[in-house]
Amino acid sequence: MIIAIDGPAASGKGTLARRLAAHYGLPHLDTGLLYRAVGARCLAAGTLDDEAASAQAARELDVDALDPDALRTAALGEAASVVAARPQVRAALLALQHRFAARPGGAVLDGRDIGTVICPGAEAKLFVTAAPQVRAERRFRELAGRGEPVTFEAVLADIHKRDARDSGRAAAPLVMAPDAVLLDTSSLDIPAAFAAALAVVEARRAGR
Ligand code: C5P
Repeated sequence: MIIAIDGPAASGKGTLARRLAAHYGLPHLDTGLLYRAVGARCLAAGTLDDEAASAQAARELDVDALDPDALRTAALGEAASVVAARPQVRAALLALQHRFAARPGGAVLDGRDIGTVICPGAEAKLFVTAAPQVRAERRFRELAGRGEPVTFEAVLADIHKRDARDSGRAAAPLVMAPDAVLLDTSSLDIPAAFAAALAVVEARRAGR
């Protein structure tokens, strides 16, 4: 079974993807980490504005060497969204995502274009969202908790900017697949959101 989870930054999709993967014993790929890793390499090399260099960085990406803690910073979220708007970068990351999704038994993938581009045939698709204020509060707590010097206002501005860039780009924009189920986690805690997500997947498995 392939479970495809898409949604904007800090919507709760990563937490739900991890929990669903644990529940069903499936491998999980946080595809945002791929774009963050490409952004990190470009920032380090001073080539963030260079489309060809970012595509080369994507082609050379070592998926086994990703360090989630180091990649989940505010600056790399922004850099990821810049490189992710480039068709050449997205094309370079396609094969490895397809390979992951083709694992025997299935997989859980989360990102922006999983249900629309990467795994359009996924058995279960969720589009997870929440109000921008709520997402900014969550992301602010997460980043501040890790000692990042951020303010709530800056995090909210970043959320708005990334939403606009991810939804407005021509290449694989953030958009809900027609057969995805919308899950708004604005007023849900993690157990309630997980219960709702599980109910969606179970309904799909039962053919409903
Ligand atoms: O999910 P996360 O915040 O880690 O993603 C970082 C950025 O990577 C997003 O803002 C988006 O621009 C990009 N991304 C994407 N497609 C995906 C996953 C992430 O364009 N499947």
